[in-house]
Amino acid sequence: MKLKYFSHSAFLITTDNGKQILIDPFLDENPTSPVKSKDVNADYIILTHGHGDHIGDAFKIAKRTEPLFICVNELANYCTEQGFKAHNMHIGGGYNFDFGRVKFTIAHHGSKTPDNQYTGEPAGVVISINGKNIYHTGDTGLFLDMKLIGELNKIDYMLLPIGDNFTMGIDDAVKAVEFVNPGTAIPMHYNTFPVIKADPLEFKSKVEASGRKVVVLGFGEEIEL
Ligand code: NI
Ligand code: MN
Repeated sequence: MKLKYFSHSAFLITTDNGKQILIDPFLDENPTSPVKSKDVNADYIILTHGHGDHIGDAFKIAKRTEPLFICVNELANYCTEQGFKAHNMHIGGGYNFDFGRVKFTIAHHGSKTPDNQYTGEPAGVVISINGKNIYHTGDTGLFLDMKLIGELNKIDYMLLPIGDNFTMGIDDAVKAVEFVNPGTAIPMHYNTFPVIKADPLEFKSKVEASGRKVVVLGFGEEIEL
């Protein structure tokens, strides 16, 4: 399985049998993404919430590749209203798709689309594929229940924001890694705009001081999980 980081909160998981799961594909208007939406395909698109920097180019990509959207109920309904296929879920619920299991978690944030539609609660997501658990926190502040998420699922990869202002900053993100205790933490949601400027190497050294591992992915970098 492969994990590709486009920058911001946008990732692509490619499974061993070639299924592509795209998360929060903010690409064309994202100054840090080296990849644009026309070059991305998806069988599934997972959206954590309705903000423009997370819905991003999802509908543009969906018009071309006809993926199944996987989101919390209100956001899934919004996708359906735009004419796309969606699987409605909600926080606390999991479902087994053909590529693996998706379970939504809480996230402390907001969720309205750029055209001002309320799209339910923002979420994080635990994606389990071939015995590996990937926790994409979505946009969120730090919360103590992250401990429970780490206790219920052995998290192999935790993708979490460090950019501050809209989400956790570095010090809260260091605490979040302590709560979840993942095999590897991967920082996201930083340096896209001046207001979320953060140094991922500062995050890395602070987390590694407590004996945990961080991989800082370059924008456009793909790794084997
Ligand atoms: Ni947001
Ligand atoms: Mn965001």
